[in-house]
Amino acid sequence: MIHLQNVRKRYRRPDGGWFEAVASTSLSIGAGEIFGLIGYSGAGKSTLMRLINLLERPDEGSVIVDTQDLTGLSARELRRARQNIGMVFQQFNLLANRTVAGNVAFPLEIAGWSKGDIEKRVAECLEVVGLTDRAGHYPAQLSGGQKQRVGIARALAPNPKVILADEATSALDPKTTQSILDCLQDINRRFGVTVVVVTHEMNVVRSICQRAAVLDAGRVVEVLDIVDGRIEAESELARSLLEAA
Ligand SMILES: Nc1ncnc2c1ncn2[C@@H]1O[C@H](COP(=O)(O)OP(=O)(O)OP(=O)(O)O)[C@@H](O)[C@H]1O
Ligand SMILES: [Mg+2]
Repeated sequence: MIHLQNVRKRYRRPDGGWFEAVASTSLSIGAGEIFGLIGYSGAGKSTLMRLINLLERPDEGSVIVDTQDLTGLSARELRRARQNIGMVFQQFNLLANRTVAGNVAFPLEIAGWSKGDIEKRVAECLEVVGLTDRAGHYPAQLSGGQKQRVGIARALAPNPKVILADEATSALDPKTTQSILDCLQDINRRFGVTVVVVTHEMNVVRSICQRAAVLDAGRVVEVLDIVDGRIEAESELARSLLEAA
């Protein structure tokens, strides 16, 4: 579903030099997989994830999602391709002046769906995340876990093939974290959506990922296989992340 081929991303430093946030990296993520990107702060996890929907454009390399090379698309084609890639954020990024239903409807309005189709789809997505009874509430009236469920419903609404979640549970307590991870897993299983989760917590990886790339200084140090919640780590870095869990 996702092929990053020799992607590289550098940022200008204030002194005029370059900082390499993602070194030349190749990574393939299968359709229907839940894949983790794990590493300490500054490792390049968010940058690598944002390359997948071209929120960051790579300096080199190609980004293929669902057989389409996104780096070759026009702005208009890219907007269309991005409807295939939902995103969930650590700070939820909900619109405060819109209700729960209004937030979930938002990407569908942008995509030009009809009013009737939007109403039906919003109801379906709120059902999936268990928030049907909160449709008319505003974000300020919700708990953190409920806000993140709205974020997930919004990501799911346009029927994406991929959902990217950047530290989606990092603002939540452990119990709420588990319920949000369960929600993502449920969506993955029911709809076959490929899910990429950025996290600094090995417990998140252990809980829902089939595989995870361990990142350090913009490089993939190791790709872990998670089998029945067990992780065999070879690299020092992966071991230290396991010990911290
Ligand atoms: N727009 C930018 N301009 C300059 N440097 C950037 C920019 N975005 C990220 N960086 C740098 O690139 C490196 C990787 O950042 P990134 O946000 O991908 O890390 P991360 O692994 O997601 O970290 P965290 O766990 O703290 O979110 C960091 O050193 C960061 O300062
Ligand atoms: Mg980050």
